[in-house]
Amino acid sequence: MADVTVVGAGYVGLVTGACLASLGHSVVGVEIDPHRLASLRQGELPVREPGLDDLVATALEAARIRFTGDYSEALSDSRFAFIAVNTPPGPGGEADTSFVYSAVGSIVEHAAPGLIIVVKSTVPVGTGDEIARLAALSGKDVEVVSNPEFLRQGTAVEDFLRPDRVVIGAASATAADEVAGLFQALEAPVITCGRRSAELAKYAANALLAARISLMNEMSTISEAVEADIDDVARIIGADSRIGPSFLKAGLGWGGSCFPKDVLALIHTAVSHGRTPSILQSVYDVNLRQREKALQKIRHALDGSDSPTVGVLGLAFKSETDDVRGSPSLDIISKLLQQEISVRAHDPAAMHNARLMVPNITFCEDAYDVARGSHALLLATEWSEYLSLDWSRVLSLMDGRAIVDGRNTLDGEMLSRLGFQYHSFGRYRNGANGNALNRQQPGPVDAVWRRESAQ
Ligand code: UDX
Repeated sequence: MADVTVVGAGYVGLVTGACLASLGHSVVGVEIDPHRLASLRQGELPVREPGLDDLVATALEAARIRFTGDYSEALSDSRFAFIAVNTPPGPGGEADTSFVYSAVGSIVEHAAPGLIIVVKSTVPVGTGDEIARLAALSGKDVEVVSNPEFLRQGTAVEDFLRPDRVVIGAASATAADEVAGLFQALEAPVITCGRRSAELAKYAANALLAARISLMNEMSTISEAVEADIDDVARIIGADSRIGPSFLKAGLGWGGSCFPKDVLALIHTAVSHGRTPSILQSVYDVNLRQREKALQKIRHALDGSDSPTVGVLGLAFKSETDDVRGSPSLDIISKLLQQEISVRAHDPAAMHNARLMVPNITFCEDAYDVARGSHALLLATEWSEYLSLDWSRVLSLMDGRAIVDGRNTLDGEMLSRLGFQYHSFGRYRNGANGNALNRQQPGPVDAVWRRESAQ
């Protein structure tokens, strides 16, 4: 079993370290923030990820993982150094790789001969080559391998331990084989390729998933106009084996720490190489448009209310995480506040993070507390506890009766029967009473037909 250093104790680094330890490797996590380091040594994690606490606790107990702030101590015995630091968006949408290069500097300085640097962070194409060039300049005998992650927050441990594939981008077959050996126990298909292809494939995967969602969101807009049902459309096309059923859910659109920054970074890469990424730009624009559509639906539902209040269920960008980065919910809340609409909100996990971003809202105890005095509700995050509420009680606490289902996930027919005015994104079958609002102004074809049939 190998000795592995993992630089970065965010959700990618911790999941990587803890999962490698669970496969029997001996892992050292490098964390330079002293407070984080102290907490990690106590087994307290800075991120919320199902199953991760247990995995780290077991590895700490078995002495298969430890944490340090000292690169030289970490790297003295290591054969592999994983880089799992974040690459946030820079001012022009490009990926900011400063944390990566700072880690590279420290790793190369303390590298033992034969060290393999494994880049897990999502980095612009060519970064692995540049790291290899810098390492060669320093005179150190170091290999560089790209090993992108495909971990979803909320199911990251499961995704690591049961991957669809392990991708290894390397310039040397020996280094590729050695890195593949780390994952052998997973019995997953291994795809080896050049470093640049591995780096681009990571962006391509996220771009394609984001594109599927944006396309379905565009379909939901068309569904509303033509009175088709987006759930039926998704079922039908998802049954096509060439398409598959995942990532076809329309609603508020995608958020998170990856899709928004990766789509922007890929646009930046294309443009900086003189290419025109038309599809990517549309994928991004359609996603933002969904938030505007949600606002329109809410504003329409609030028509006539004095000093309106909107109740928001969910603040995290998706369920099973406390992460609010790129959250459609927070974006919509900020716009509601700009329009002097008061907001009451709840989230089972993300309230502490949301407080830092939108302090001027009322943070509630639970969904019922959110409903109290609200003129309209927005379901923004698909937490399971919001799917089985006592909706009669919710309605009785509200001052209005509109509900905007931002995740197309509630039983609209049932809600309509109870007296709610249910709004969705292109669902026609499921609760028809809100569809009057969904229906757009007649387009030119409609207008021509009406004119002609009136004659
Ligand atoms: C994503 C990728 O899936 C993962 O492989 C990558 O490494 C990191 O980025 P994550 O950001 O955790 O993972 O979330 P994911 O489950 O992919 O969802 C992304 C966003 O799309 C969320 O906001 C989610 O609510 C939204 N989504 C997802 C939809 O709107 N519709 C869908 O059908 C699926």
